[in-house]
Amino acid sequence: MALQLGDTVPDFTQETSEGSISFHEWAGDSWVVLFSHPADYTPVCTTELGTVASLKSEFDNRNVKVLALSVDSVDSHKGWINDINETQNTTVNYPIIADPDRKVADLYGMIHPNSLNNLTVRSVFIIDPNKKLRLSLTYPASTGRNFDEILRVIDSLQLTDYHQVATPANWKDGDDCVVVPSIPTEEAKQKFPKGVTEVKPYLRMTPQPNK
Ligand code: BEZ
Repeated sequence: MALQLGDTVPDFTQETSEGSISFHEWAGDSWVVLFSHPADYTPVCTTELGTVASLKSEFDNRNVKVLALSVDSVDSHKGWINDINETQNTTVNYPIIADPDRKVADLYGMIHPNSLNNLTVRSVFIIDPNKKLRLSLTYPASTGRNFDEILRVIDSLQLTDYHQVATPANWKDGDDCVVVPSIPTEEAKQKFPKGVTEVKPYLRMTPQPNK
């Protein structure tokens, strides 16, 4: 069965462009973004991996490790990284898993045969420090992903875990947040000293707590 939100994600040991990785041990106490792409030396993927490299400090600031994957070999990844660095004006600064035996792709359900025969689709998995799956998404091969949106989801998940607020539609960093339903309004007023606005008994807003 496909991985579902809240599941403990499968562990694996696999070669990468930066050596062998045992996934759970490598992840340690960090959050992880694990993302697959169809193939090396393809145009959309080249822009995606360059974009992720340029966002490395944003991931670091959030205690997030980044890990890419395709079914190509380590040698292929290493050659392609030179092209990414050259064309995207960046330095790929995270490992790319080599998965020619499809071991990780099968564990994570990254191959959708009716979409791309034997190639990984554009999957993204956000995994928390407890190794629980917190987000999964799948994009078509022809659509490059929006990694600012991935950062936005990480911000939202961390606000919920660390500050007990949720985020409304189209929320951006700095916007008001939603008090989670499990906190009664009177308790929320104590917990969120910046103020709680009760729009409805079930819809309480508060300024972003960590700003
Ligand atoms: C690409 O990365 O450019 C790509 C890969 C597979 C199908 C279409 C585009």
